Amino acid sequence: MDRDSQQRITRQRIQINPAVPTHSNALRAETARVPFGGQQSLVTHDGYYYCCGMDLAANLQGIQQRIEAASGRAGRAASSVTLLAVAKGQPPEMVAQAAQLGLAVFGENKVQEARAKIPLCPGRLRWHMIGHLQTNKCREAVGLFEMIQSVDSVHLAEELNKRAEQSGKRLPILLEINIAGEASKFGYRPETMLAELDRLNALPRLEIHGLMTVPPWTPEPEKVRPVFRRLRELKVECEQRLGAPLQHLSMGMTADYEVAIEEGATMVRIGTALFGERTRKKSE
Ligand SMILES: Cc1ncc(COP(=O)(O)O)c(C=O)c1O
Repeated sequence: MDRDSQQRITRQRIQINPAVPTHSNALRAETARVPFGGQQSLVTHDGYYYCCGMDLAANLQGIQQRIEAASGRAGRAASSVTLLAVAKGQPPEMVAQAAQLGLAVFGENKVQEARAKIPLCPGRLRWHMIGHLQTNKCREAVGLFEMIQSVDSVHLAEELNKRAEQSGKRLPILLEINIAGEASKFGYRPETMLAELDRLNALPRLEIHGLMTVPPWTPEPEKVRPVFRRLRELKVECEQRLGAPLQHLSMGMTADYEVAIEEGATMVRIGTALFGERTRKKSE
């Protein structure tokens, strides 16, 4: 390790678990610079990552303060908002650190990543599927996740219902809505969801707990306020149709969670603000 690198190393020392495949190549190098949650880090001969410039506790504290302030502006208690930590691209050691700081609910976008990671994380954690789910992954997803936030078709819901029944479970779900109608995103168009709501609600093993959305990306969060507002209105429409309250509005990510809370979010899904920039895979 050269002198310059040593100076930039903070006190974070995270033991590598060799069972995590993502970093196996990096492990072979005796001293190599590798990306770690977007932060500079080194993997050294002693098999430890040294993360530079990442302070999970400080990041979490900042987020919690902002959640509190945004909830206050909306006249709600901060406890009405669940912070879901998006673990995509983060190793189990990072998840364990976040858990030690008190986080309990984690999100994953892919079944493959969840399958490798969840068994290496503290067992008490609760995992939500927040990415697009293919029907051939439903059986495994039902075993891994306590909630599927990305249900966007009756076909998918029926498969989940079947797998939940086989596992003797009831499965909480959210309906993912593509409010802005972006072709690049998954999710129900609002009118399609409303047309299919009764069929979804009739599936005996699924419990509809609310709605989820991923808004268009913009550096100006005010621009997506109408998207969050529309999701809240849509939840009211669903509640009227179902004759029962729905608990959750899962909306708001790093760029826009404060606006989402002002518009009624009960769950914000945060990755970057907590763990730092994700390293992008070539395919992303
Ligand atoms: C569905 C979903 N929600 C939340 C996030 C977290 O986004 P951010 O890192 O901007 O907080 C992601 C990231 O991939 C995501 O796919």
